[in-house]
Amino acid sequence: MVQILINKLGENKMLTYNEVKRFYDDFGRKQDRQLYEESAINDLIEQGKFGEAKYIVEFGCGTGNLASRLLKSVSSGECQYRGVDISQTMVALCQKNIEQFSERATCYRNEGEPKIDVQNQIADRFVSTYVLDLLTEKDVTTLLNEAHRTLLPGGYLCLASLTHGVSPVSRVVEILWRGLYKLNPSIVGGCRPINLAERPCKSICVNSFKTSPASDPETRS
Ligand SMILES: C[S@@+](CC[C@H](N)C(=O)[O-])C[C@H]1O[C@@H](n2cnc3c(N)ncnc32)[C@H](O)[C@@H]1O
Repeated sequence: MVQILINKLGENKMLTYNEVKRFYDDFGRKQDRQLYEESAINDLIEQGKFGEAKYIVEFGCGTGNLASRLLKSVSSGECQYRGVDISQTMVALCQKNIEQFSERATCYRNEGEPKIDVQNQIADRFVSTYVLDLLTEKDVTTLLNEAHRTLLPGGYLCLASLTHGVSPVSRVVEILWRGLYKLNPSIVGGCRPINLAERPCKSICVNSFKTSPASDPETRS
């Protein structure tokens, strides 16, 4: 009964670009307190071999937490970075976080369309963490095409997102999460569980509830 009511209240609602921007402008630094992200991001850093990266592109860079971690202690001193985010607050935080690397690391604000202003085949890592789970299907497709455009042959597409529960506890968490999302997507930052691994692309997909084995990035399609 409750489930039916929730379904009726919230069918097919997704946040618009303006709503996403407003939410993350207000949310700001609180993003770095989302503890569920930590172990998936650690896996992603390990599997993504960022120590060998020469040019990292990041879509939805948030506060720049991942960028500064990669630039400070994982990648080489020559590695370049280009990040983009829809939220002015996030871009300002990211710029502050990466300012000591300003000669080789920049970020900017976009209007929402999942495009990145870098040239074709410039990057060897394309990263996006906890962003695809708040994009429409159409935008996910555009973003994956953009990754394909910007990555060099053999480059790594590194994605992390919310996904479906795989244990009794995580299944309950997913049900609660979905219920909140359907009531009002803003309660959960516009994010809903998705399955990255079923996408028709070769990528390193790391999920909060489960880590998928990385498919071979050398055979990116
Ligand atoms: C859940 S947060 C994740 C932030 C960061 N990647 C992390 O893992 O901490 C989602 C981020 O994506 C950004 N975002 C959402 N939709 C976007 C879009 N269409 N274009 C650019 N950034 C977007 C938000 O502003 C926010 O910073």
